[in-house]
Amino acid sequence: MKFVLASGNQHKAEEIGVLLPAHFELVLQKDLGVESPIETGTTFIENAIIKAKHASLATGLPAIADDSGLCVPFLSGDPGIYSARYAGPEATDTDNLLKLRSALEGASDRRAFFYCVLVHMEAAEDPTPIITEARWEGEIAHEPSGDQGFGYDPIFRIPSLGKTAAELSSEQKNSISHRGQALAALSGLLSDRYAT
Ligand code: IMP
Repeated sequence: MKFVLASGNQHKAEEIGVLLPAHFELVLQKDLGVESPIETGTTFIENAIIKAKHASLATGLPAIADDSGLCVPFLSGDPGIYSARYAGPEATDTDNLLKLRSALEGASDRRAFFYCVLVHMEAAEDPTPIITEARWEGEIAHEPSGDQGFGYDPIFRIPSLGKTAAELSSEQKNSISHRGQALAALSGLLSDRYAT
């Protein structure tokens, strides 16, 4: 069974690919010549549906899309849906980390959570998408640490482990992360829908 992944992010594709059932083949939309749509939603779920529809419409394949980001309650949920471009349209991960660290200077509450929503659409007009979501709770560290993962991983600290997400192996991260949890749920629902 072939699916198009409505993402251009290779890290995410790797994380998602290893967690799907073995007989599910995942093709990146960019490898099929499909550009990312403009994300006009104001919520993660709206953006994930926009991405899944767009990928399915462009390729004729069933699609899987994710939308995810980091939410900091002290900052009223920022960076939220703007996580990838928090420090500007061309921001690098380092720019985003610097902006977040300075926004939290002197903050009394450093709690944060990663959020992920996954959407599967059988076709662009599928009226019954499969939707799963999950949160990964943690806090924003004062200093970055670790060199695994991507994005905000070096400053996302999991208090119960005493480590940042960037200090976890990809297997450890996948087993507890927002994306890992949402994907485990999606994987089960996809197996049910496409049971032979
Ligand atoms: P998206 O591609 O629109 O879903 O943007 C997600 C952005 O949220 C990424 O570019 C990262 O900045 C951040 N993000 C989401 N998941 C993670 C994660 O697992 N680790 C670190 N940063 C993440």
